[in-house]
Amino acid sequence: MQYAQITGWGKCVPPAVLSNADLATFMDTSDEWISSRTGIKERRICHVNFSDMATVAAQHALAAANLDASEIDLILLGSLTMDSLCPNTASIVQNAIGAHNAASIDINSACTGFLYGLHIANSLIQTGAHKKVLVIGGEFISHYMNWARRDVAVLFGDACGAVILEATNEKLGLLASRIGCEMDTTSAIQITNLGSAYSRLSDDFLYPDWNFEGQEVFKRAVKAMASACEEVLQQEGLSIDDVNIMVPHQANQRILDALAKRIGMPSDKVMVNVHKYGNTSAGTIPVALTEALEQSRVKPGDYVLMATFGAGLTWGAGLVKWGDRVSPVHQSDAELPPCKQTGLEILAPHIERYRAKAAAS
Ligand code: UT7
Repeated sequence: MQYAQITGWGKCVPPAVLSNADLATFMDTSDEWISSRTGIKERRICHVNFSDMATVAAQHALAAANLDASEIDLILLGSLTMDSLCPNTASIVQNAIGAHNAASIDINSACTGFLYGLHIANSLIQTGAHKKVLVIGGEFISHYMNWARRDVAVLFGDACGAVILEATNEKLGLLASRIGCEMDTTSAIQITNLGSAYSRLSDDFLYPDWNFEGQEVFKRAVKAMASACEEVLQQEGLSIDDVNIMVPHQANQRILDALAKRIGMPSDKVMVNVHKYGNTSAGTIPVALTEALEQSRVKPGDYVLMATFGAGLTWGAGLVKWGDRVSPVHQSDAELPPCKQTGLEILAPHIERYRAKAAAS
C-alpha cells in the first residue's frame, strides 16, 4: 500500500498589517466588536501578486523537505483569488520555482481548497500516478473585498502556505479524509459582479461584492466539520482522545470553540492563529500547520486532525499521521520583496474606488 507522507511545509504571510483599529478609521466598527465576535485582532494585506506569496511558501516547503523543484511531479494550488483567469496560478508558481517536471492544477473550492488538494494529492499518490506533490493553499482575498461591507471585510486577510507530499510504504500522512459539499447553500457565501453569471454591461461588473449569511454559515460549518471529523476518526478506528493536535480552518474563534466542544477536543490541543491573520481562506490550515511545527506543537508520530469549510458550502476533514521529522531539513531564505506601505496605505486606492462609484450612482 502506498501512503503520502508530509515531508515539507512552509508559509508566506505578507508584512503589511491591518489592525482592528485601522478598520475603524474608515468603517463603522470597533476592536471590541471584532475581537468579541471573532477573536481577530489583525490581518495581513498583500502588496504583490498571489503567486508571489505561493512561490515563497513553496520554496520554504521544498527546503524543509530537502527537495529540488525539478523532483516535483504535480502542483495542486487551492485558491479562489488567482493571479489571472489564464494561465492558472499553479503554472505561474511552477515556472517561478523551476518545477519543470510538474503538472499544474488550480483548485477553487474556496476556504477548503487546501484540504481538497491534500485529499486529491494523497489519492493520486496512492494510485501510483504521482510521487512528489506540492500542495499549496492561500488567498489574496483583500483584492476581492468590498471594503464598505463591515459584516464581511473585518473577517478576512491574505496569506499562503504549502506542503510537500512524498510517496512512502510506511503508514504515514493523510490516513483518512472526507470531503463534501452542501448543495442547498451556494448563495450563503458568494462573490458577485465577477464571472459569466454577471452582465458585463452592468455598472457593477468588476466591483466585487459579497452575499454573506454569517449565522447560517456558522451553524452549518460547526455541524459539517464535526461530523467529518467523526467520520475520519471512525475510518481509522480511532477516538478523539487519540488525536494529539487539531489544526482547523481559522474563520472565527467562536467557531473553533464550538467545534472543539462538539467533538470533545480539549481547547489546549487546538491550534489557533486567527487572532493574527483573520480568515485567510485556503491559507488557514497550511499556515497554522507550519506555525504548529515552528512552535514544536507537533511531535513525531502524532495524529493531526484537520477540519475545514467554505463557500459552496464545501467542507472536509483529514487525519494525518506525522512521521519522525518535525523540523525542516533546510531553511529557505525566500521572502517577498520589501513593502514600505502600511495595510491601510495599500488599501487606500481600493477603498477610494468603491467610494467614487457609490458617489456616482
Ligand atoms: O470561511 C468561511 C467564511 N465564513 C465565515 O467565517 C462566517 C461565519 N460566521 C461568523 O463568523 C459570524 O456569524 C459573524 C462574525 C460573521 C457575525 O457574528 P454574529 O454574532 O453572528 O453577528 P450578527 O451577524 O448577528 O450581527 C450582530 C450585529 C448586527 O447589528 P444589529 O442588526 O444587531 O443591530 C450587525 O449589523 O452586529 C452588527 N455588525 C457589526 N458591528 C460592528 C456586523 N458586522 C459588524 C462589524 N462591526 N464589523
